[in-house]
Amino acid sequence: MCGIVGYIGEKQAENILMTGLKRLEYRGYDSAGVAIVNNDTLHMQKREGKVNELETALDSAPIEGTVGIGHTRWATHGPPSDRNAHPHVSSDGDFALVHNGIIENYGVLRKRLKEKGYTFQSDTDTEVLVYLIEEVQNEAGLALPEAVRQALTQVIGTYGIAVVSASDPDLLVAARKGSPLLIGVGDGEYFLGSDAAPLVEHTRQVVYLSDGEIVTIRRGGYQVRTIENVPMEKEVHELEWTLGEIEKGGYEHFMQKEIMEQPTALEDAMRGRVLPDDNKIVLGGLHDVMDDLRDADRVIIAACGTSWHSALVGEYLIEHFARTPVEVEYASEFRYRNPILRDGDVVLVISQSGETADTLAAVREAQRQGVMCLGICNVVGSTIARETDAGVYLHAGPEIGVASTKAFTAQVIVLAMIALKMAEDRTLSHAEFADAVHALASIPDKVRTTLEMDGQIEKMANIYRYSSNFLYLGRGFNFPVALEGALKLKEISYIHAEGYPAAEMKHGPIALIDRFMPVVFIALKDSTYDKVVSNIEEVAARDGSVIAITDEGNGELDELCEYVLRIPQTQEFLSPLLAVVPLQLLSYHIAVMRGCDVDQPRNLAKSVTVE
Ligand code: G6P
Repeated sequence: MCGIVGYIGEKQAENILMTGLKRLEYRGYDSAGVAIVNNDTLHMQKREGKVNELETALDSAPIEGTVGIGHTRWATHGPPSDRNAHPHVSSDGDFALVHNGIIENYGVLRKRLKEKGYTFQSDTDTEVLVYLIEEVQNEAGLALPEAVRQALTQVIGTYGIAVVSASDPDLLVAARKGSPLLIGVGDGEYFLGSDAAPLVEHTRQVVYLSDGEIVTIRRGGYQVRTIENVPMEKEVHELEWTLGEIEKGGYEHFMQKEIMEQPTALEDAMRGRVLPDDNKIVLGGLHDVMDDLRDADRVIIAACGTSWHSALVGEYLIEHFARTPVEVEYASEFRYRNPILRDGDVVLVISQSGETADTLAAVREAQRQGVMCLGICNVVGSTIARETDAGVYLHAGPEIGVASTKAFTAQVIVLAMIALKMAEDRTLSHAEFADAVHALASIPDKVRTTLEMDGQIEKMANIYRYSSNFLYLGRGFNFPVALEGALKLKEISYIHAEGYPAAEMKHGPIALIDRFMPVVFIALKDSTYDKVVSNIEEVAARDGSVIAITDEGNGELDELCEYVLRIPQTQEFLSPLLAVVPLQLLSYHIAVMRGCDVDQPRNLAKSVTVE
């Protein structure tokens, strides 16, 4: 949700900032801008629209200079426009600032600053912060870094900011509270990024700024302190991501690449953890807390979006295997309703990015109430990963497409490992556990086989691309998959879609069914199969067009359904990992055929760092 980049060094900044913005574009793409200092003057370019628009503008008027900042925006205050695009500049033209987050007390501050004579050029909360810094600087005659620090003490809300100044061309100031920011440490040069994507091609050494920290960077070095002015010693971390991982590698879209990468992502998520030869599951990150987790009276899983869907699969998994009661919460609801947590509860949060504001707030709520909080994250070093008491990384590699795919399957496999580990030698016999471990190990190859139906699904998509509504139905472990299938379709193709537990169809959605309504059923030969077949009959009897996902070798549905997609057989608890794949492919192909921007769907952002 908004991407920030920065550079200070000896190289030309424009190219570095622009490549960085393209790598961060998945965080927001309403408008983009850069500010670069050259010859003691601030040069700026900003444009409504995607980073390409800015690039075109810069092609005809390049900016020289070796220190600069850039921003790609996901609008919160004020519509996307050149005027509202970042950077925003102080009224004396000396410094420029980019911001990711929300200044909640901007109304009060704006009123005060207006009274003092500041004229606002934009509708943004960010411009308020710029003039606030300027006011503090002028009133107390402070150097810019100190003025930024003191201004931030007056701000309520969230921010990741970067600032450059015309009168101090050897300076880059950055600060964070609630919105992520990393410093890339090079040789006589430094980089800033909202995440590691813009940094990896320049350096592998990074420093994660923590909430409430501000950094002053000069070509000769950097100094971190807290907003309260306490100097901090920061550890330098080694990045795990490689450049190849954040590029499309021959695929047309990141989403397509990430769908296709799932077998490898699942292998990576299980590497060193699922050991079929020894009938073992090893989760190092949970080792110290596993006894507490196994003894928990209740597990509460909080997450948002696709991660919330994997949380629902987690509920089925943990209750099925470990027999521990599980509640799944939207993190945004959990945080605000003063949730009742008790001794014996464990909170588990799931977040691909590790930065989702509501999920992070759920972590803090659990900790405020003294309850252990565990995390499942993909991005190493992310805020949630660092703030939780313990956790498991997905190791699925960077996910860039805004619609989550491989993170979902990796989350489900990690949840399956956790559920089995909780059940080992308790509710599961040695033989049952060993069976499950072998089933887990065989999943990546089965996902590979499932992906082979890509061509078949592409042809089907050609028929369904014109539909304006879709219904997705599943039961048991595959009810959350129905929700995820519907979400995938609506977020990237803008077709209205609903997911329901199949039996609930009779309590409302059945009224929508006619021959124009495609209904996707997950109808696997599992404990719910016969019931689902009855539901298919009910839809077919009302002329609905049924697409069924069923098991290899099952011909029973051919008569009833328009299309039958067959996936390899596996143990029931792992079937979501296979059933979701055709749904991802169907959404992908329909969206491509409708000419939608698959990787950057309108109004969405990959990492939602505002509430
Ligand atoms: C956004 C993304 C979704 C994602 C959700 C939660 O809405 O577009 O793809 O599932 O945030 O993100 P997280 O990083 O916490 O899993």
